[in-house]
Amino acid sequence: MEENNNLTQEKIQQLIALAMEARKKAYTPYSHYQVGAALLAEDGRIITGCNIENAAYGPSNCAERTAFFKAVSEGIRGFMAIAIVGSPEGDALTQYAYPCGVCRQVMMEFCPPETFQVIVARSLEEYRVMTLRELLPEGFGPENLQ
Ligand code: THU
Repeated sequence: MEENNNLTQEKIQQLIALAMEARKKAYTPYSHYQVGAALLAEDGRIITGCNIENAAYGPSNCAERTAFFKAVSEGIRGFMAIAIVGSPEGDALTQYAYPCGVCRQVMMEFCPPETFQVIVARSLEEYRVMTLRELLPEGFGPENLQ
């Protein structure tokens, strides 16, 4: 049984399943690229998000940031992991959807980079786990301003 920093395989698969559910709500009339995310808070709560596009393109929001902003706006600020699934429209997950640079920076604001786990998945069995530090080496964060 695979384990990653206290995340059991069962917990990882629960997060992936919730990200898959969230992806079904993606609003993507322009790119037709659909992303879902499930964010695990330190207190065990799981907050989901999808990408939400806009006719003016610029106001579009990624699934990961939707989840973070939902959580923070509800007073949740401690996080352990996020699962992300994304692929072009359709049920099949044809690729691993790594978070964009802006979303990595938002993670950097709220998550300890050495321990926060980012899970990208193509199915419940096919997934990759990495830390935020691996995705954003030498990142700039709140500690730089202290
Ligand atoms: N997208 C995400 O939701 N997360 C990412 O990390 C990468 C990109 C969305 C934004 C846009 O709606 C679509 O995928 C294509 O870029």
